[in-house]
Amino acid sequence: MSTFLSDRRARVASALNLGDALLLVGAGEPIPLPERTDQTYPFRADAEYFYLAVQECPGGVVAFDPRDGEREGWVSFVPDVTEGERIWEGRQQPPGVSLATLKPWLAARRGRPIAALGAPLPDVQPDAGQTDRARALFHHVRRPKDATELALLRRTAAATAAGFVKLRDALRPGITERALQIELEAEFFRHGATRPGYGSIIGTGPNSAILHFPPGDRVVRDGDFVLVDAGAEIDRYMTDVTRTYVAGQPSAFQRDLYQIVLAAAKHAISRCVPGAEWREVHLAAAVEMTAGLVAMGVMRGRPESLVEQDAHTLFFPHGLGHLVGLGVRDGSGQLPGRPKSARPGLATLRLDLPLAPGYVVTVEPGLYFIPALLNDPARRERFRDCVNWPLAEQHLHLGGVRIEDNIAVTTGEPENLTAAIPKTL
Ligand code: GLY
Ligand code: MN
Ligand code: MN
Repeated sequence: MSTFLSDRRARVASALNLGDALLLVGAGEPIPLPERTDQTYPFRADAEYFYLAVQECPGGVVAFDPRDGEREGWVSFVPDVTEGERIWEGRQQPPGVSLATLKPWLAARRGRPIAALGAPLPDVQPDAGQTDRARALFHHVRRPKDATELALLRRTAAATAAGFVKLRDALRPGITERALQIELEAEFFRHGATRPGYGSIIGTGPNSAILHFPPGDRVVRDGDFVLVDAGAEIDRYMTDVTRTYVAGQPSAFQRDLYQIVLAAAKHAISRCVPGAEWREVHLAAAVEMTAGLVAMGVMRGRPESLVEQDAHTLFFPHGLGHLVGLGVRDGSGQLPGRPKSARPGLATLRLDLPLAPGYVVTVEPGLYFIPALLNDPARRERFRDCVNWPLAEQHLHLGGVRIEDNIAVTTGEPENLTAAIPKTL
């Protein structure tokens, strides 16, 4: 087994501190398509399994017995590949011991509590308390990315950068969102991507205010905002990048909005240092962007007070970012033992913890004109005096701006892994 995997497993064993409990981590099974054929959705092993096995193996199980030692106690059980799988899918027998030997392995350890992570396992009775505790600790120990993970993230960032350059070259009035998607994703593949990390988001004109807009056949018009949120994936690791452009000449209003978001992004990135509380980084960006909207005449009042009232959520309705890596929200959530904030303006945060070296976090401030928020009577009443409503209404179809980079927290300066992707309107 490679040294990095042995080191990784030993780090996990030490962090989980299982006592006498056993650990089982399931890969999961392919999920059939709802069409009653033998077709399945593309198989992706559960991320907890993948982290410990570093292979896609339907039905695989990684097991660990702490009595056998932090390095020696691990076993990778894999199903015996069938003739049908060899013929239809070209599957090869993956490394590991036969899954048929999991039963005797467990029988030899009868009576010991089991923490079961990954996908649920048939015929196993896990201990709920041990499982919850192990899952929380495992989630936390996976947060700092190791050297192997960082190397993969750098490769995905390079493939992502190539895709964005290609899309930017193709962007002009008259092109469709779908044609932009084709340019972007084909270039990801040409640069080594194994797939797009998630459904690419390409929203043009008013669609740029829909946070997760799937590209369609809309034709780009002169003066449209074009928001692209996408990333290449390589061997299950992905980057998550957003750039916003204007097709043709931007208006003064579009430029001002863009500059506010860009400045907030730069300042937030510089705050990604060990010990920084993510919610404070988020709130500082919220105050800064609110001050920008006040200067533009869109909002009214003192920026700090507007943010205390959550008025900024009319235009910045999501959190500043999340952790990313083995999945688009890899390792996000709260610090172990910290409850989710009850403050409504912080409820949308996907992350609430102090940053630490090795974390890779997205920084993605955005400002949008979202009709579903700005036309809501309850919000209009509550924030009556906080917004220049006639001006906001004039821009209801403008869309929005988001700028997103992926930042590695280090013991020194933050490292922007996606800095090579130009941030010009
Ligand atoms: N790519 C989705 C997001 O940024 O949340
Ligand atoms: Mn994104
Ligand atoms: Mn993101």
